[in-house]
Amino acid sequence: MILSIESSCDDSSIAITEINSKKLIYHKKISQELQHSVYGGVVPELAARLHVEALPKILEECQPYFTQLKAIAVTNAPGLAVTLMEGVTMAKALSLSLNIPLIAVNHLKGHIYSLFIEKEASFPMLVLLVSGGHTQVIEVKNLNTMHVMAKTIDDSFGESFDKVAKMLNLGYPGGPIVQEYALKGDKNAYELPIPLSQSAQIAFSYSGLKNAVRMAIEKEKELTQEVKQNICASFQKAAVTHIMQKMKKLFKQNPPTHFAIVGGASANICLRNEIEALCQQYQTTLHLSQLQYCSDNAAMIGRVGVEHYLAGDFISMDELDVFSRTQV
Ligand code: KG4
Ligand code: ZN
Repeated sequence: MILSIESSCDDSSIAITEINSKKLIYHKKISQELQHSVYGGVVPELAARLHVEALPKILEECQPYFTQLKAIAVTNAPGLAVTLMEGVTMAKALSLSLNIPLIAVNHLKGHIYSLFIEKEASFPMLVLLVSGGHTQVIEVKNLNTMHVMAKTIDDSFGESFDKVAKMLNLGYPGGPIVQEYALKGDKNAYELPIPLSQSAQIAFSYSGLKNAVRMAIEKEKELTQEVKQNICASFQKAAVTHIMQKMKKLFKQNPPTHFAIVGGASANICLRNEIEALCQQYQTTLHLSQLQYCSDNAAMIGRVGVEHYLAGDFISMDELDVFSRTQV
C-alpha cells in the first residue's frame, strides 16, 4: 500500500491506496474553508498552521496500516510553498521512521488521475483542468508526456468565482456559492464582456471580466439579494461562454476521441452541461471525476503515486523539495 499526503492549498488530506488493485483503502480530508471564509480567500500562513493541526490527526487513524506501507507519496508542486512544506515534512518523517521510499507527485497530474480512482488509466485524452490555481487544456499521452495546449494569461476560472463571491460578500470558496446564486438570477441582466472573444489566440483570461463585474457592482445603489443573484448569473454565463468559445475552436481544429474536465471547478454544472453538448456534437467520449474527487484530495495523489511506484520512480530525501509554480 501507498500512503499519500495532499496539502497544496487549504485541504489537509491523507489516503492509502493498494498498489496492485488500485483500491482506495482509506481516505480522509479536513477542509479549512470555514477558517478562510472570513478573509474571502486562502491566507497561506493560516493554511499552513491548520495543516500542522489536521495532518497528524488524520495520520493517527492510518497507524494500523503502517506495517503494510511500501512508499509515501506527497504533493510537492505546484501550490502554496508554505503549505506544501507541511505535507513534504510529514512525508520525510514517515519515510525515515518506516524506512520506505518517497514519491513526489505533481498536483496537476493528481487532478488528471482523479478520473482513475480505483480504475486503470487510459490515454490519450484531451483534458480541461479548471481549479482555483489553473485553467489549462492539456494533451495527455501518458503520465510523463503531457503538453499544455492553452492556459490562462492571468486569473483562473475558479479564482474568478472566488473573487466575485468576495466582491459580493458571499464567502469562500466562491464557486459553489456563485453557482447557487446564479441559479436564481437572470443571466441576461448585465451585459459583461466575453474575454478574448475577438482574439484568434487559444488562451484564457479572467481579470478583465472580474473588473467588469466590479464596475457593475459599483453602479448599484444597493446590493439586494436579487442584484447579487443577477450579477452571479451574468458573470457565470460570461465565464463559461469564454471557456466554451475557446474549446469549440480546439474541437473544430482537432476533435478529440476522449475528453475530460478535472479540478475543483469542474463541479460547475453550467460548464459540465455545455461541455457535454460539445462532446455529443463531435461524438467525443466525455470523462468526469466523481464529485468527491474533483476538489483537492489525497486519493488522486495516491493514484499517481501508484503509477510512479510501479515505474520505480522514487525521490531521495535530499532531492525532495517544494515548487510553487510548475507545469504538468
Ligand atoms: O481543485 P481545487 O479544489 O483547488 C485548486 O487546486 O485550486 O479547486 C478549488 C476551486 C475554487 O476556486 C472554487 O471556487 C472552485 O474550484 N469551484 C468552483 C465550483 N466548485 C468549486 N468554481 C465554479 N463552480 C463550481 N461549482
Ligand atoms: Zn487542485
